[in-house]
Parts: sequence; structure tokens; C-alpha cells
Amino acid sequence: MGDTLSVTDNRTGKTYEIAIEDGAIRAMDLRQIRVDDDDYGLKTYDPAFKNTASCKSRITFIDGEKGILRYRGYPIEQLAEKSSYIEVAYLILNGELPTQSQLDIFAHEITHHSIIHEYIKRVIEGFRYDAHPMGMFVSMVGALSTFYPDAKKVHDPQSRQLQTYRLIAKVPTLAAFAYRHTIGMRFNYPDNDLSYAGNFLKMMFCMSNSYTPDPVLEKALDQLFILHADHEQNCSANAMRAVGSSEADPYCSTAAAAAALYGPLHGGANEAVLRMLNEIGSKDNVPSFVKRVKDGEVRLMGFGHRVYKSYDPRAKIIKKTAHEVFSVTGKNPLIDIALELERIALQEDYFVKRKLYPNVDFYSGIIYEAMGFPVSMFPVLFAIPRTSGWIAQWVEMITDSDQKIARPQQLYLGEDERDFVPMRNRGRSISKKLDAKAQSRKGARKK
Ligand code: SDX
Repeated sequence: MGDTLSVTDNRTGKTYEIAIEDGAIRAMDLRQIRVDDDDYGLKTYDPAFKNTASCKSRITFIDGEKGILRYRGYPIEQLAEKSSYIEVAYLILNGELPTQSQLDIFAHEITHHSIIHEYIKRVIEGFRYDAHPMGMFVSMVGALSTFYPDAKKVHDPQSRQLQTYRLIAKVPTLAAFAYRHTIGMRFNYPDNDLSYAGNFLKMMFCMSNSYTPDPVLEKALDQLFILHADHEQNCSANAMRAVGSSEADPYCSTAAAAAALYGPLHGGANEAVLRMLNEIGSKDNVPSFVKRVKDGEVRLMGFGHRVYKSYDPRAKIIKKTAHEVFSVTGKNPLIDIALELERIALQEDYFVKRKLYPNVDFYSGIIYEAMGFPVSMFPVLFAIPRTSGWIAQWVEMITDSDQKIARPQQLYLGEDERDFVPMRNRGRSISKKLDAKAQSRKGARKK
């Protein structure tokens, strides 16, 4: 017995030995299983890739049953407590924690690439005052590709490194400028004397010439950036890899990833949670809301996960951070509704049976709102730190000799070949066909 699968095709009686490697079989090894020479061979059918590995990766490890998350082997709990976002971004991108000089160089590069081309402001000015900041963010990241045509050299390590600095450095600036546009305030340019999180807070909220970020809020935001930096093959990382596999430049690929993140089932969930908590309005309304969830009327946003079938470790850390932030901002009353929602949900069979627990988005928005961010900025706050994760996934894909342009198969169940129908015959032929289908359905019912 070895690391192989013995598969017998009962249509032909033939048996095949298929290699098992890293807990998986290669889908291409199934193509040899055919009934005759005209047969294309077996495919796998896996909508939403629920059990399909699209790549080999060494960046992030998640154990959904045990609630484990590690970046390059380091537990998220230790990184959240002991590291900084810039150091974690270096780790995710390079595979090792930096030495002091490596960190200093990386931080210097990020700081000094945070300014954006003045013409980007014209892109922002093209948006309505009430444009959603995430829609602006997606557009502006894509627009960056027009300012850096050198980014097309995706196989050039130097070019990749330069675009990495530019993207990580500029996304907070783009985010803050988008926000300032929606409130009709002048743009605050980056301040090179501040930390990554501190500079972002200043670009967002400085209303006079002097602004010092509150150290507790700066640390909390930096920690939230660490928690959101990467999460293996989530929907937006998949988008980054798929778009990048055509050798599109990293700005267009990141714009595609940000677009995927925008969805309420993914990074848009933190915004949806706040809207949900405000709709619930008070702890007394929680039981009736939970009933609506159980009746399938609404989703409990911020709950459930494709991988975590236990508590999302990030949610645990965020819940703790909330209290540190509230010590400065005052308590956000929505936390009481959220805690009651969690308490009741975790007792309800509906959630226990489906292994639905709070995920990263359940508590993060409550902190963001307490810090003064508008709800519409929440997906943007997710995209800023995830940019380093997307780039790491993109670099790993581009440098993986196993990878090619992403082009999935399909199972075609449509019409067989048929001749073109001239306009004069179309109504008749379609109704004849519909009648025939109705007849066959009626016949089927009689059996
Ligand atoms: C993120 O992938 C990642 O890693 C993502 C992320 C990252 O860091 O990149 O972790 C970030 O996107 C977190 C998830 C944020 N999204 C939400 O909070 C939105 C609400 N949650 C869901 O819509 C849902 O849980 C998903 C999308 C997160 C996961 O969906 P799956 O794995 O496709 O599960 P499913 O939709 O098939 O649900 C299985 C069952 C269904 O019930 P049945 O059909 O079996 O009766 O659970 C139910 C679902 O109806 N269910 C929920 C629910 N989530 C799942 N029911 C009510 N409320 C929910 N939130």
C-alpha cells in the first residue's frame, strides 16, 4: 500500500492508480479515466472550489476546526501582540521576520512611496460627493496602472519589489483621499514622520495644521491591520491570482481583488454588520432578529465562514481590542447588541448545527465606528492591510512553475448542435418546443 488511490471505473472495469501528494490528487490524473478514445476523460466538478486546491502556498495556514491562523508559521495571536503591521507585511512577503536593518529599509521605502501623482486627484474629483469610498478605491488602484507602465514587467523581481512598495504605501493615501472627497475637505498629504497607521489616521482626520494620532487608537488600528493582512485562498486572493495569471500588472490585479473584497459576503461584511446592528437597534430586539435568521429571511452578517467551523481567532482578538479603544473613545453601545447576538446565537441549534461563529467582521466595525470611521469606509479599511497579502499571493503565483493562466473547465449541459432559425419561423418553433417540453413534463407526472 503506498500513497496512491486505486480507482475502478465500473463503466469499463478498468482500475487506475492515482498518486496522493500533500493530501491531494492531481485533477489532471483523472483525465486518463475514459470510456473510449473519443472520451475527453473525467473532470472534477467543484462549484466555488469548496474542495479544490488551486495552488501550493507557503504564506498562510488556517485550521478551521481548531481556529488556528498563522502567517509563515507564526500564530496570529503572537503577531497581533508583539509585531507591527509593517513588520508583518515584510514577513508575509518575504517568508521571514526582518532583521532591524531589513525592517528599517522596508519601512523607509513604504514611507517614501506614500505620496500619489497629482493627476490621481482628478480621478477622485470625477466621483460624486456621495460615491462609495470602496468604489473609488477600486477605481483608483486600477488607475495607478496607468501611471506605472513599468509594472507590466511582472517577471522582473526589481519591478515587482518597486510595485510592492508603491502599492502598500499608496493604498492608505488613496483611501484617505477618497474619504476626504466625500466630506468635501482638503486632502491631507502623507506625513513621513508618522507610523503607517498614524499617518493614515492623520490623512483621514486632521482638520488643522497639527494632528497627533492617539497612541491607543494608532496601536489598535495597527493591530487590526495585522489581523486583516492575509487569509490564504479567500475570494479576493483567488481574484488576485486569477487576474494576475494572465500577466496583468499588479495594480489591475489588486483592483480586481479589491472589487471581490467589496462584496457583502466577503470584506463588505463589516459594513453590513454595522447596518444590521443599527437595524436591530436594541438588545430587546435580538430574539426576533435571530428568529428571522432561523426562518431564512436574513443572514447574520459577521457570522459563519467557509473555513472556520469554530471561533475565528481574529474575532477573539478584536473583541479584546474593542475595550482598549472604548477606554479612549467611550463605549460604542452597539457592542452590547453584538454581545447579546453572539450569546443567543451560540446557544441556538441553527447556528451550532451549521458551526456558525463570529468571524473577523463581526466586531471590527464596532471599533472602526468608535474610532470615527464612517461605515462606508469599513471595506476600505479591510483592503488597506490585505494589499500586502494580495501581493504576496500574486508573487507566489507568478514565480510558481506549476502555474499557468487560470482557465477552469465546465460541464456543458446546454443545447446540442442545431440549425439557425429564420425570423419568420421563430415564434412557431419556440412555442412548439415549449409545448413539447410541457408535454414531456405532463407525461413524467403521470408515471
Ligand atoms: C470574510 O474566505 C475567507 O477567508 C474570508 C475572510 C478573509 O479574511 O479573507 O475570512 C473574510 O469574508 C469573512 C466572512 C464575512 N462574511 C459574512 O460575515 C457574511 C455572512 N456569512 C455568510 O454569508 C457565510 O457564512 C459565508 C459566505 C462567510 C460562508 O459561506 P459558505 O461557506 O458558502 O456557507 P453556506 O453559505 O453554504 O452556508 C452553509 C449553511 C447554509 O444553511 P443551509 O443551506 O445548510 O440550511 O449555513 C447558513 C447557510 O444558509 N449560513 C448562515 C450564515 N452563514 C451561513 N445563515 C445565517 N447567517 C449566516 N451568516
